[in-house]
Amino acid sequence: MADQGRLSGVTGTTRLTAVIGAPVAHSLSPVLMNAAFAEHGLDWMCVALEVADGDSVRALDGIRALGFAGVSVTMPHKAAVAAAVDELTEAARQLDAVNCVVVEGGRLIGHNTDGGGFIDGLAHDAGFDPAGCRAVVVGAGGAARAVVHALGAAGAADVAVLNRTAGRAESAAALAGGVGRVAGPEAVAGADLVVNATPVGMGSEPGDEAMPLDPGLLNPGQVAVDLVYHPLTTPWLDALRSHGIEAHHGLSMLLFQAARAFTLWTGEEAPVAAMESAARAALTARGAD
Ligand SMILES: NC(=O)c1ccc[n+]([C@@H]2O[C@H](COP(=O)([O-])OP(=O)(O)OC[C@H]3O[C@@H](n4cnc5c(N)ncnc54)[C@H](OP(=O)(O)O)[C@@H]3O)[C@@H](O)[C@H]2O)c1
Repeated sequence: MADQGRLSGVTGTTRLTAVIGAPVAHSLSPVLMNAAFAEHGLDWMCVALEVADGDSVRALDGIRALGFAGVSVTMPHKAAVAAAVDELTEAARQLDAVNCVVVEGGRLIGHNTDGGGFIDGLAHDAGFDPAGCRAVVVGAGGAARAVVHALGAAGAADVAVLNRTAGRAESAAALAGGVGRVAGPEAVAGADLVVNATPVGMGSEPGDEAMPLDPGLLNPGQVAVDLVYHPLTTPWLDALRSHGIEAHHGLSMLLFQAARAFTLWTGEEAPVAAMESAARAALTARGAD
């Protein structure tokens, strides 16, 4: 499935999209997007473009001049792109971060689909509706901010942010509006949903034990999500599942933020199953499952 985009061929009318970032070679965006284009038989293509930190404005000029349909944006460019586009959606403005640019009549529209992708993934994996829920988010970086903002927008009753650096926790918690607050580990006991938005567990090997939060703080009946997706099973997820706790990996957030970007670019419903199987095949090839 991942090869379909590559095999479909490039024509003189192929619509181009890209992911810009640094480093970007291991981004799954081309895998996800090319699988989606192939599934819909679209003459579109997504490539990964390495853009050095500080060069995103020049890259956007190029995107516009070259007639790209849009770009996905990853680290370290999300804030710089937010400052450079012609228009921002409300979520992108509040987060001061853009992960998806749509080119409309030569104007660059900056979106943020990360938080919406998280909510979509939660519904897909756990049938979980955040309205009225009590949530704990561990971490206060870019991923945490998107999740906190999305939980607040989706009607969560309480969004507690735990982070080792207090100032960043306050700034992230404010994104949930009136329901956001800074908290300590004691908040976990009353939560319906607990999210790891730190990189702890990323790249872990069997036998590694680093965890973002003591798994003994959670109880069956709670839902946990680890935003890490490499590996798909982190030590934290493994420990939670062995305690009978429903625990999901971060691939769904990645998948559904891309699905939203696909729809913004093409106007078509995203073929989520095809995108997921392409991403899983790519992760398996990298030894991440
Ligand atoms: N599934 C997805 O679609 C998706 C999307 C985006 C990111 N992610 C994943 O989410 C994770 C975070 O990404 P990000 O972009 O938000 O990173 P980031 O902006 O660098 O933020 C990282 C956060 O984690 C905290 N942190 C880092 N190392 C820690 C440690 N050893 N112990 C405790 N806290 C620690 C940091 O705390 P301080 O504030 O104290 O530094 C910060 O709040 C990464 O693993 C990334 O792969 C997944």
